[in-house]
Formats: sequence, structure tokens, C-alpha cells
Amino acid sequence: MSAQTAIETHKLYIETVGCQMNMLDSEMVVASLRQQGYELTDSIDEADTLLFNTCSVREQAENKTYSALGRLRKAKQEMPEKIIGVMGCMAQKDQQLIFKRAPYVDIIAGPGQLKEIPDLIAKARSEGGQHVAVGLGRKDGKVADIKRSHETFDPMRDPSMRPTPFQAFLRIQIGCDKFCTYCIVPMTRGPEQGRDPQMVYDEAVILADQGCKEITLLGQTVNSYKHVAADGTTTRLADLLVKLHDIDGIERIKFVTNYPKDMTYDLLTTIRDLEKVSPYLHVPLQSGSDAVLKRMKRGYTVADYREMMARINETLGDAAAISSDFIVGFCGETEEEFQETVNLVEECRFKNSFIFKYSERPGTKASDHLPDDIPHDVKKRRNNELLAVQNRISEEDNQKFLSQTVQVLVEGPSKRVDAQINGGGPNPETGLMQLTGRTHCDRIVVFEGTERLIGQTIPVGIYEISAFTLIGTVITDHAVSQSLVGLNG
Ligand code: SAH
Ligand code: SF4
Ligand code: F3S
Repeated sequence: MSAQTAIETHKLYIETVGCQMNMLDSEMVVASLRQQGYELTDSIDEADTLLFNTCSVREQAENKTYSALGRLRKAKQEMPEKIIGVMGCMAQKDQQLIFKRAPYVDIIAGPGQLKEIPDLIAKARSEGGQHVAVGLGRKDGKVADIKRSHETFDPMRDPSMRPTPFQAFLRIQIGCDKFCTYCIVPMTRGPEQGRDPQMVYDEAVILADQGCKEITLLGQTVNSYKHVAADGTTTRLADLLVKLHDIDGIERIKFVTNYPKDMTYDLLTTIRDLEKVSPYLHVPLQSGSDAVLKRMKRGYTVADYREMMARINETLGDAAAISSDFIVGFCGETEEEFQETVNLVEECRFKNSFIFKYSERPGTKASDHLPDDIPHDVKKRRNNELLAVQNRISEEDNQKFLSQTVQVLVEGPSKRVDAQINGGGPNPETGLMQLTGRTHCDRIVVFEGTERLIGQTIPVGIYEISAFTLIGTVITDHAVSQSLVGLNG
């Protein structure tokens, strides 16, 4: 190749915080930059382009990014040719404020402007100056224009950026219209839009061709997914699951995050009847108090949530694994209200829960109208208390897996520190290493095996459990034929 036609190579460093949406966005930005000759590096010093994919859901997530940017102040002074970019939800929320706090940032791109990033970088490099591309605010124009400004360019995929080569996220829904009073997401990700089912299907086929066995459909309220075609045909999540179920090579289909009010019978029976669809449902409850749920404007009551749990139990029975999110210390939360949450966790017996301390987000209804009046140490105590209850329940419920055999999709070497006898590599004498994977119901399983098991779905017999992990041994064909196995996972 002559010097004139050679693609200029650049070194890209990318740091991603936040939810699965952000992981997917980073995957696509890397894919588009790779096409332009970029190579990934995990060294900030080596990189000539640094991107921060950011989250605004809690203040702590933003502080983390601002500290990371702060640490680059000197590097940028010494090497002004390094391009620094901020993308994602904080880019959309803070916009020019980022330049105020970190004046050496070169580009800012919202979650709907991913496809503009290569051009923004090129412009900053050739012309200098600061460049911004963000979506429209929720009141800044016609709905169609606002929606367009938050769209993404999903078909561009890069297998190397995935959780593993055989697992991928697939966006089916953009944005959110629920406007829970504490939440910034409707502002950062724009209006709710269901992606065209044919586009989703085509993308799933590409993923399957690339060797992907498990896809996780993404949406803020994924089970509210709805797409109305030009001819009036309406597609809901259940229809989409049926369509995706036919794709050869895809073994498991998961979807997050669910909204309690939209967990319909129709959807649940579809999940029950399609064997590739995981009976794992992440349905955040947020609080067990009706008064708090009302202040949060979640749009359901405790009674509604109980009815949903009954529907799930009726349709999926023991196979179902339900997980939740909680916010403790939301505006005005009394001890009694918190206790109602503890009681409901005891009652619902979630597989696991993510518990967060309320963090006031400027621009939300709660921030405008409700005082953030629960002291930090009270939030912390409630967080620990609820977590202890949840962990006890998780451990108790995992007992049912003892002496059972579960089907595990093997993801790779275990990251458990206590499992890394050989720095995570194979034992030189036995060739075995600590591997990890998940059951169909999303439970983490750790066991010993050879590297060639990675990417396969295999039976593992469980002999030990903790709140977070099932520990087992791979069942060989010989052992399977000798034992009566309950395929529970
Ligand atoms: N769309 C998803 C959740 C998106 S944010 C849903 O509706 O369930 C992920 C979780 O972060 C939420 O479920 C909530 O528990 C938590 N969260 C959102 N805003 C928060 C805030 N201001 N402070 C603390 N936690 C928050
Ligand atoms: Fe936020 Fe509520 Fe939308 Fe979830 S449903 S993203 S918590 S506004
Ligand atoms: Fe954070 Fe945006 Fe996801 S605010 S949680 S990265 S949608």
C-alpha cells in the first residue's frame, strides 16, 4: 500500500460506565472507528483518542467521570493533540457544562449522536476547537424531530467489544416515557420508540451468524415494547420473541428491564411456551410502600405488583427467577415505609436485587418538587439492611439447586479471586481452569473445566452454593447416563 492510500492508524482508549445500553453504544462506536483504522488500547498514555461513555443515573456515576477527566488535565497540556471526547447520558444532560468543568475536552456527543462521533473527532483533529452534537430536549421541538435526534445506528456491530463472543445485547427500544420522578433517563435518552421488528430480526441474524448464542434484548421498559408499522400492524414483545425464536444458532433470549404494569398474561405464556426464552424476569419494584410509589410516580401499587407476581407464578411456576431494583431513602421515606419494602422483599423472595441510595438528579420532578431529606447515613443503613435481607433470601433459595444438574452456557474463566489458583489460567498439571457461566434462569455457576468448554452449553452438577453463586462439577456423558438428573436451570 502506498503512503497516500494507507489508512491513518489511531489508538483509541474507551471507558464505559452505566447500564447495558452504554455497553452496546460503546460496541458500536468502536465498530465505526475501527472501520476508519482505529485500534483499541487500554493504555491512556498510548492513546491519541480518549472516549468516556458516561451515565447520569446517580451523582456518583457522574463524579467518577469528572474525576477521570480531571486526571487528564496535565496529559492534555503536555500532549494537546490527544482528542478527548465525552459521549452518552452525561453528555446529553450536561452538554456545555462539561466544557466549563473540563475545558480541554474536545467533543461532546449524546447517545443519539453516536454516528457523528468519527466526524466530530476528525474535525477536532483537523480544525481544532470544541464540537458538540446532542439530541433535542423533551420540549425542544416536534415529537418526531425529538425522536429522530435520539435514534441510534445499531446494525454496526463489533464482536470483540461484547461481554463474550457468544453473548450480545440487542436494542429493541430507545428512550423512556414513564417519567418516574427520581429518574433522569427520559431526559438523556429521549422519547420511547420501539425499533422496527424487521431491523431487530435482521440484526439478530447477523449476531447468530457471528456465533452468538445468547441475545439480551434491551429497553428501559422492554416489555412495554410496541411498534406500529405503516400498514397498521402492531408488534409487541411477545410477537418479537416468537419471531426471534426461529433463528438458528440462537439458544437463549433474555430481555431487560421490565415494567411491572406491562407484564401481561400474553407475554408470560409466550415466555412459558418458547424454550429459548429465559424464565428470568428483571422487574424493578423500587419500593414496597404505596405512598413512596406514588411520590415516585411509578404508576402501580403494591397490590398491582402482587397481582403480577401471582400471574408469573401461575404461568411460569418454579422455573421463574425474578429480580428487582430498589431505591432507599427516597424523598420523605419514613422508617415505616422502609419497613414495608423490607416486608415485601421477604414476601416476593427475589433471586437478587440491586439496591441504590436515592441520588437527587437536577432536571427531574423530584428534584424540583420534593426535598432530598433523608440523611446519607440513614440511606446507607437502609441500603445495608435491605441488602442483608435479600442476600439471606438468595442464599436460602439457592439451596434448592444442591445436588441438581443445571444447563450452563460457559462464558469464560472465573473472575473470582479465590478461584484464580493459576492467575485464572489452566492448572499446568491437569489442564483444568475455574470457569464461569450462567443458567437459563440467570444464576452464576462456577466449576472446573477445560478451555474448550467456553461457549458451549453443558450440564453441571451443583454441590455447593452461596447467595451469589452455584458451585459445581461438569457432568460427563458417562455420569449423565448413570444419574437421574433434574434439568432445573
Ligand atoms: N428503566 C429501568 C431502570 C433504569 S435505571 C426501570 O425502569 O426499571 C436503573 C435503576 O437505577 C432503577 O431501577 C433505579 O432503581 C435506579 N435509579 C434510577 N434513578 C435513580 C436515582 N435518582 N437515585 C438512585 N437510584 C436511581
Ligand atoms: Fe427511569 Fe422510570 Fe423510565 Fe425506568 S421507567 S428509565 S426508572 S423513568
Ligand atoms: Fe445511566 Fe444512561 Fe443507562 S443514565 S443507567 S447510562 S440509560
